[in-house]
Amino acid sequence: MIPLSLYVHWPWCLKKCPYCDFNSYSKSQKDIPEERYVDCLKKAFLHQLPWVKDRTIETIFFGGGTPSLMKASSIESILSFISQNAQISSTAEITLEANPGTLNSESYRAFRQSGINRLSIGVQSFDDRKLQCLGRIHSKEVALTAIREAQQEFDNINIDLMFGLPTQGLEDLCSDLSLAVSMNSTHLSYYQLTIEPQTMFAKRPPLNLPSIDLIDQMQEKIETETSKQNFDHYEVSGYAKPGRYCRHNLNYWEFGDYLGVGPGAHGKITYGNKIFRTVSFSHPKKWMNSVESSGGGIKEKYSVIPENLPFEFMLNILRLRKGASKELWEERTLLPWSVVEEKWNQGVKQKLLEPAENRLQTTPLGWQFLNNAQEIFL
Ligand SMILES: C[S@@+](CC[C@H](N)C(=O)[O-])C[C@H]1O[C@@H](n2cnc3c(N)ncnc32)[C@H](O)[C@@H]1O
Ligand code: SF4
Repeated sequence: MIPLSLYVHWPWCLKKCPYCDFNSYSKSQKDIPEERYVDCLKKAFLHQLPWVKDRTIETIFFGGGTPSLMKASSIESILSFISQNAQISSTAEITLEANPGTLNSESYRAFRQSGINRLSIGVQSFDDRKLQCLGRIHSKEVALTAIREAQQEFDNINIDLMFGLPTQGLEDLCSDLSLAVSMNSTHLSYYQLTIEPQTMFAKRPPLNLPSIDLIDQMQEKIETETSKQNFDHYEVSGYAKPGRYCRHNLNYWEFGDYLGVGPGAHGKITYGNKIFRTVSFSHPKKWMNSVESSGGGIKEKYSVIPENLPFEFMLNILRLRKGASKELWEERTLLPWSVVEEKWNQGVKQKLLEPAENRLQTTPLGWQFLNNAQEIFL
């Protein structure tokens, strides 16, 4: 049975960060139409429900944007609506993304009581000057307090960090890193800063970005220091303590199914002998209007043509250090292995992929040049 996840998008932030190309819009809290939006999330969920009849939801992820701007009572009301209309697993992982600048000492208990059992805190750096340059609304002290207070209520916490920041040297990276690994979190997401088109950083690129050589050294340092602290580097940017992988993201990478509700949210659902993808309207107003006029906020729904499945599957699965079993290919793509065998063997010859008899995974060389390994399947 293919696992099912649910992604719930919250599109607003107090301030748009200059590097960010997520579907998020800055808004002051008083202007956010929270009640209307929460109603729309419920309606949009109901719209999609027939596609996953009788299936159990294994993970839920409130992402953004900054969903920690939501009232805990809104989250509770959404979760109880979902469980009245569908089956949520009793061991479901339910994550909330949180910006430290939006939390106070009461938030944590309220979110925990609303049903959230995993918190993902967007720290980015523990260096005040870097935080300022990234346009963040919080300081190092605020981030440290957020993590410590969150730990009173949550035993499963991710910290988001970025490296390759303007003016960042190896020493700066090391001080961020040693604080990060010492915080007793169960998971770290360590992203290399990318300059995305259409962002403020693309229009006015920051000065003094580290060289590629320095970035490589940083990556190596992150790998050695996290491994000393018993973090498993299980995905390109993901480091987890034993048994604490992000189950929600793992389901994306293992080509599982998911519903996506909210502006810009994507879904992937297998039914009959087809795989469908859905795309929602990006702008919150347009999305809410569509939901309220019974369109579910859905801009597009299409079945993936089988020719595209090898690349889509490998793009995801090869991000995982341990890859996947060969059986997973057939279960998740609904295609026989013979469809992709020749290309896989080509990757084995190039020393980018391990022989498929074992597992579908990259070699150490393929892990280093992941794009090349994935492009074989284009
Ligand atoms: C939706 S945000 C997390 C929650 C919240 N909005 C926040 O920023 O605190 C997801 C994460 O993606 C990462 N991210 C966003 N834009 C990035 C970029 N251009 N390069 C690298 N990482 C990025 C950041 O680490 C960020 O915390
Ligand atoms: S990084 Fe987070 S807080 Fe900043 S704009 Fe993007 S979603 Fe909003």
